[in-house]
Amino acid sequence: MKRQLIYTGKAKDIYDTEDEDLIVSVYKDQATMLNGARKETIEGKGVLNNQISSLIFQKLNAAGIATHFVKQLSEIEQLNRKVTIIPLEVVLRNVTAGSFSKRFGVEEGIRLEQPIVEFYYKNDDLDDPFINDEHVKFLKIADDEQITFLKAETRRINELLKNWFSQIDLQLIDFKLEFGFDKDGKIILADEFSPDNCRLWDDEGNHMDKDVFRRDLGDLISIYELVLEKLKDLE
Ligand code: TMP
Repeated sequence: MKRQLIYTGKAKDIYDTEDEDLIVSVYKDQATMLNGARKETIEGKGVLNNQISSLIFQKLNAAGIATHFVKQLSEIEQLNRKVTIIPLEVVLRNVTAGSFSKRFGVEEGIRLEQPIVEFYYKNDDLDDPFINDEHVKFLKIADDEQITFLKAETRRINELLKNWFSQIDLQLIDFKLEFGFDKDGKIILADEFSPDNCRLWDDEGNHMDKDVFRRDLGDLISIYELVLEKLKDLE
């Protein structure tokens, strides 16, 4: 099914297929932070993230969210609809943490009355800067209507995810999404959803996500395995 490598990212490689509307995403064992300044191979991470992301995207599809997910092909491969990625990292925060706490000088763990949606411009050369709606329009990334849709869809996805994670005793602190335009110009959810791009805290406040790697808190694989096992209970 896989034909030619068309893109190599930090966590995934993308191949085209005989069908011009479909691509194969291959999940890698690489963990990076600070825009790739720190890079490590963590054996088994690709398999876990592919399973976790497949499970979540299946549930999102079933809940009526339009996504690029078609099916899981193998332990590390996923079949996805081809999109033109919108160069935005759409971050939603339910609770203060990470760069939000640093930027605004607030402690981590404060519940936000209304979840906050932020945009970052996906541009490695510029280190993915924090931008606002006006910048998004200036850069011709999205117009008003599309910006409104991206925010509303992200909030809708948050409500679903928050509920699923709370059922398995995990608190969804924040997460990052990426969207793309499909062949008809419709905006659909793309990329992945895994503990690499969200924060999950258990009842004791333990980090059940990539902060384990970012903050050197222990063995990432055993924690991702636990998240996957818990998610399987949801089905
Ligand atoms: P931040 O607090 O570092 O801005 O991260 C917010 C959320 O976005 C967190 O769940 C991790 C995720 N994220 C990514 O997936 N990729 C990134 O490049 C960054 C900076 C954050």
